[in-house]
Amino acid sequence: MIIDTLTVVDNRTGKSYELPIEHGAIRSTDLRQIRTGPDDFGLLAYDPAFMNTAACKSRITFIDGDRGILEYRGYPIEQLAERSTFLETAYLLMHGELPTQAGLDAWAWEITHHTWIHENLKKFLDGFHHDAHPMAMLVSAVAALSTFYPDARNHADGDGRRLQIVRLIAKMPTLAAFAYRHSLGLPYAYPDNDLGYAANFLNMMFRATELKYSPDPALVRAIDVLFILHADHEQNCSTNAVRSVGSSQVDPYCAVAAGVAALYGPLHGGANEAVLRMLNEIGSVANVPAFVKRVKAGEGRLMGFGHRVYKNYDPRARIIKRVADQVFAVTKPNPLLSVALELERIALADDYFVTRKLYPNVDFYSGLVYQAMGLPVDMFPVLFAIPRTAGWLAQWLEMMADPEQKIARPRQLYLGAARRDYVPIDRRG
Ligand code: CMC
Repeated sequence: MIIDTLTVVDNRTGKSYELPIEHGAIRSTDLRQIRTGPDDFGLLAYDPAFMNTAACKSRITFIDGDRGILEYRGYPIEQLAERSTFLETAYLLMHGELPTQAGLDAWAWEITHHTWIHENLKKFLDGFHHDAHPMAMLVSAVAALSTFYPDARNHADGDGRRLQIVRLIAKMPTLAAFAYRHSLGLPYAYPDNDLGYAANFLNMMFRATELKYSPDPALVRAIDVLFILHADHEQNCSTNAVRSVGSSQVDPYCAVAAGVAALYGPLHGGANEAVLRMLNEIGSVANVPAFVKRVKAGEGRLMGFGHRVYKNYDPRARIIKRVADQVFAVTKPNPLLSVALELERIALADDYFVTRKLYPNVDFYSGLVYQAMGLPVDMFPVLFAIPRTAGWLAQWLEMMADPEQKIARPRQLYLGAARRDYVPIDRRG
């Protein structure tokens, strides 16, 4: 017997309905029985931007936005940032459990040995204009991978899926670094299998004439931690894009390309880039109050602040603040840090931000860290896309295995013209 139910009375008809509640939710399709008559399609739930609609059941990432909690597969983000590595975290997201040492070694070996890209893909990248945005290049390059792996269309079996997942996680840093070097007109630097995931990314970005590139271990660890923090974030805009596009059963390269495209927008993964541009525009601590006044007057947003889910300090921002200190100890401190700290201080004490529960999010400090490491602003969203690929693919895998999922297809409330007859052009107006 179901005891958790919701009783709904339709005041149009006086009829009463009892809808089951499972996991704190009713099924929207249960509303369809609520009809005024045989011609009525049935009641719909109207929810633009999915403000209160769960589109899946998931066992990957948990967020408690009011308390500022983020967990991957039950493990608190603080512990993973402190003790895990990105590849181990990616394994956890994908498999649901932390690996044994042998499992991790095999996983790392596989990823390391799939980092190369087909030489023709370099020609494809060469076709872009010299000032092409690297994130737009990445969208296209990830989709282009689909053409190199036609076997990816047959992803019905577990092994096939796994191979595409390994390829995508492995090749993202290569595509990202090649996009960057294209923008500078530099020759591409090939992957070095002796290096770990983050170190190899820095190698492909920055290696010049040296035979062996050895990045500072503190900077490698900083990138690795930033990758862990960005690896997944449950049903955000880009993950929803991956799930939605993937639900058509397209290959995972095309589904992930949709995710990269969604992430590119300034309200999502493009926010870290927008934060840096905003801090540059503010320029100095003295200009902060005037800038905050403009934001409060509705003339633009305080980028890197606010979140759909977090109504508390984003736990990732807290960790990134600590990473920033470690990076600035190696590089020189970022002069824009003082502007960011002053913005945060003023905003957190201001009624406008307090009442709307607007706190720094993951993007507020990450750009300052990337910039201090010599990474150009255009690359910031790309640095988000590399690790998020692990989350997208874990979510894609979960969706593909979920018997309740079908092709994503929302309903609409049609408010347009009623049926009318075509009018020949000489009788219009
Ligand atoms: N600066 C000033 N006001 C803001 C901001 C902001 N950054 N964010 C929200 N508000 C105000 C907004 O104007 C609205 O005020 P009112 O109720 O008076 O109309 C109220 O707060 C609620 O905002 P909303 O736009 O309804 O909230 P949302 O959940 O739709 O948007 C958001 C969430 C992240 C898009 C938004 O906070 C924003 O645009 N932030 C700046 C961009 C940003 O930092 N994005 C990165 C998000 S974290 C990384 C990621 O997941 O991609």
